[in-house]
Amino acid sequence: MSIPLITTSRWNIEDGHTLEGYLRTGGYQGLRRALEMTPAQVHEEVKKASLLGRGGAGFPAGIKWGFLPPDVWPRYLVVNGDESEPGTYKDRLLIERDPHQLIEGCVITCFALGLSQCFLYVRGEMAHGQERIASALNEAYEHGYVGRNILGTELSVDVVLHWGAGAYIVGEETALIESLEGNRGMPRLKPPYFPASIGLYGKPTIVNNVETLSNIPWIVEHGGDAFAKIGAEQSTGTRIFAVSGHVRNPGVFEVEFGTTTFRDLIMGDQYAGGIRDGNTIKAFIPGGASAPWFFEEHLDIPLEKTTVDNEGSMLGSGAVVVMDETTDIVKACHNVVRFFSRESCGKCTPCREGTNWLEKILDRILNGYGRPEDIDLLLDVCDNISPGISWPPKQTTICPLGPSAVSPIASALKRYRSEFDAYIASNTDTPVTVNGGRA
Ligand SMILES: Cc1cc2nc3c(=O)[nH]c(=O)nc-3n(C[C@H](O)[C@H](O)[C@H](O)COP(=O)(O)O)c2cc1C
Ligand code: SF4
Repeated sequence: MSIPLITTSRWNIEDGHTLEGYLRTGGYQGLRRALEMTPAQVHEEVKKASLLGRGGAGFPAGIKWGFLPPDVWPRYLVVNGDESEPGTYKDRLLIERDPHQLIEGCVITCFALGLSQCFLYVRGEMAHGQERIASALNEAYEHGYVGRNILGTELSVDVVLHWGAGAYIVGEETALIESLEGNRGMPRLKPPYFPASIGLYGKPTIVNNVETLSNIPWIVEHGGDAFAKIGAEQSTGTRIFAVSGHVRNPGVFEVEFGTTTFRDLIMGDQYAGGIRDGNTIKAFIPGGASAPWFFEEHLDIPLEKTTVDNEGSMLGSGAVVVMDETTDIVKACHNVVRFFSRESCGKCTPCREGTNWLEKILDRILNGYGRPEDIDLLLDVCDNISPGISWPPKQTTICPLGPSAVSPIASALKRYRSEFDAYIASNTDTPVTVNGGRA
């Protein structure tokens, strides 16, 4: 069955990012439709759609919206456009190629939730996206799609653009809120700081991902039931996946959610086109750098949230990173761990110190100074960050970033421990210092 492109339909239209191109291709019809309904009816359509959040956790948007306490004002919508997980680059393209779709989604959401201020947080390094969304916002203000008395109605919504400074941790919703308030981007404790009750400036706040909100215009225009008919029962609609690594045709693909398999996505000619140079697949990360790795036997699993969760990983941020048979697993593991170590905000000790130690131990293994006890040491540090090293992860940390550094180590050791052992066996020279250098 061919499915409609819901969020990427304008990506190949040259002027799809302008107001003229957007209106010519059916833009702002969802908003017009919403304004004929009551806010509660719009909310109901989103609930019927069973739209899962596309930022990582996969929580249903309609249910999250329902967590806003009644009669507490002001309340805010915050758009999470901080996208920084390695391999994840779908939100950037949504912002660059179809900024009006996102703006329309924001305005409809504000209407449904009875709020008048939206903050759009865009990652610092997305210079092109920043230009595109800023000029789209100017056009939307000028033509009455944002601002006072939208399309001549009582609805007034302001959208404030905010550029991040390029920190991965600010993608975590409470850190993003701290950053918006002008503070250092460090996560808050949950509870009590669940944004829907205590969010931006201490007020109820809905934080949604760029892709989540980009689905809203289609859902309101076509109805929640039509959306829910696409995909699987618990993973409805379409979803965008970014495929990178050792494939012939890396890119970003909108696919039917829940029914398309990893094999379709990675090997299919219409998507990533298979493994480069005729090689075989060694491992793949199914949902962003935080996710436990999958292997060849997982290729036929559908891109469906519950199934992937039950198989011990997650779809997370929608980034699929493929490693072929030529991959040095210890180096790949080090690469991912180093990212989390560098991006740790430092607020809690197990993450600040532990991710750094993990990086240093892997450094010395790779540099030929590994010790026989290093594997146990790696696992011990992992266990301190994420007790039991299980999935879903337990954590001794404030946010899930610390446990994210555990995933690549646990995955790589589970399947390719021999590669670690080989590096360690190559060390003919002891002693070494804790920093990985020679004594
Ligand atoms: C370390 C970390 C980084 C995150 N980065 C992002 C991000 O870049 N973009 C995003 O939308 N969500 C990110 N999230 C998830 C957000 O905290 C939040 O769940 C999400 O923005 C909610 O939107 P959704 O319900 O529409 O998915 C991150 C979470 C963690 C723990
Ligand atoms: S887990 Fe890491 S990133 Fe998260 S709050 Fe603690 S130190 Fe910061």
